[in-house]
Amino acid sequence: MSDTWDWGTSSDGDRAPSTDLRTDIPHPARMYDYYLGGKDNFAADRAAAAKVVELLPSAPAGSRANRRFLGRAVRFAAELGIRQFLDIGTGIPASNNTHEVAQASAPDSRVVYVDNDPIVLAHARALLQGTPQGRTAYVDADFRSPGSILDAPQTKELLDFSQPVALLSVALLHFFPDSTDPFALLDQYKSVLAPGSVLILTHGTGELMSPEVARSIEAVYTASGLNITSRGKAEVLRFFDGMELVEPGVVPVHEWRPDGHEDDRTMTREEIAGYAGVAVRRG
Ligand SMILES: C[S@@+](CC[C@H](N)C(=O)[O-])C[C@H]1O[C@@H](n2cnc3c(N)ncnc32)[C@H](O)[C@@H]1O
Repeated sequence: MSDTWDWGTSSDGDRAPSTDLRTDIPHPARMYDYYLGGKDNFAADRAAAAKVVELLPSAPAGSRANRRFLGRAVRFAAELGIRQFLDIGTGIPASNNTHEVAQASAPDSRVVYVDNDPIVLAHARALLQGTPQGRTAYVDADFRSPGSILDAPQTKELLDFSQPVALLSVALLHFFPDSTDPFALLDQYKSVLAPGSVLILTHGTGELMSPEVARSIEAVYTASGLNITSRGKAEVLRFFDGMELVEPGVVPVHEWRPDGHEDDRTMTREEIAGYAGVAVRRG
């Protein structure tokens, strides 16, 4: 069974065409929403996510740590003076969305959100709120088609690539197997970044947990028809090629410039299933 919702908005505020949410199969955005304690998930998402939580009880805490990293990294970029953000793989709106964090630091920040999941599209209106001085837009497009994102009218209108941009790829690239060459795809986005731009990235890894648990988690995704590709630190570092990592480099998500949150202090490396890093484009 699948549900059809027709209350989405396109980036220019028009009503979007009816959207088939395919609630009968798990979607990464909705599984993540389940980990975060959200309500925008369906039985198939909950069943798959619950299996992951059985294998890795810290998955919800790890997802929250990932969101906190996103907040810290966006604030870092804003403090560098960056006022433009391209957030690919936005996810269902949660607390501290990119525009909220960026515009809290700098109200004139402009944010372009991109996702290809119909449920995120259905929530686009929530992502399009912002300060009067700033702007946000939503592009319904696929990371694997850089042209459809970089050349989208909303992107062209809001982002000036001759000036620094923060490119966000947070908890996205593990959905792409090596056969799709996510390294080359990301390079296409990196190639348009002006000096002073930053790349903000997290990536799922099984490297910090027992190999057996990592394999079982991968099997849950595969059985659900979803790809998930765990990558180790050496591979995650490759995504930053050509850019200069800021301290502390690529580290377990909760260890990237923690701001004292209790959960980041108590979390162990075995509990976190992701690496994080931020890099700057120099000259
Ligand atoms: C785990 S969520 C991460 C959300 C958010 N970036 C965060 O870290 O809090 C991954 C998001 O990537 C999106 N996604 C997966 N494949 C995609 C693709 N090919 N193009 C665009 N977005 C994609 C999913 O729909 C989902 O919303």
